[in-house]
Amino acid sequence: MAQDQAKRAAAEAALEYVEEDAVVGVGTGSTVDWFIDALADMRNRIRGAVSSSEKSTERLRSHGIDVLDLNSTGRLPLYVDGADEANRFLQLIKGGGGALTREKIVASASDRFVCVADEGKLVDVLGAFPLPVEVIPMARSTVARELVRLGGRPELREGFTTDNGNLILDVYGLSITEPLKLEQSLNNIPGVVTNGIFALRPADLLLLGGESGVRRLTA
Ligand code: A5P
Repeated sequence: MAQDQAKRAAAEAALEYVEEDAVVGVGTGSTVDWFIDALADMRNRIRGAVSSSEKSTERLRSHGIDVLDLNSTGRLPLYVDGADEANRFLQLIKGGGGALTREKIVASASDRFVCVADEGKLVDVLGAFPLPVEVIPMARSTVARELVRLGGRPELREGFTTDNGNLILDVYGLSITEPLKLEQSLNNIPGVVTNGIFALRPADLLLLGGESGVRRLTA
């Protein structure tokens, strides 16, 4: 099965968790794009969506799905998003598309986080995928030095600005054996807005598309 079809199968499997009349939290990325396209068929049965990026907002609106402000919705029953890596505890690396901050906000505001991905994203130890860290522009160098001190090799994502007007440092060379601890340490560096480890708020359910269909993993 091609990777794209695996992503599509996982994304479409997430539809069964969408409740009537709900506001759905929607992530960002190529897997989520499949989810948004599938959600279009349900647009008259949901109240709308809270989006984690300008890109997803545009796609949702193109399908006639209302995009609502998180400040006006309260907690959401469901958040659906992809991942760059996932371990068997459903801890994730996210942010390959640069939307990590809003993704983390919407995930934290949701009762259930369903992560959709192709099975190639499942790893034993997080960190082969370079860890995205969103940084306030004036702190780029000070944060980069601190990341080196922690054993990483940060590289500026050239020509990229986040939806929040910030920069991304992609950190290579980390073997993330203690995701919770590292997520918290990185959050404590002045100038770091968000890092792409989702361990404080991991996924609740991982839908993995692959040759044998869609596997469902819970922690
Ligand atoms: C966006 O910032 C990311 O967190 C995505 O969820 C992640 O990169 C997965 O992307 P794909 O679905 O395109 O693989």
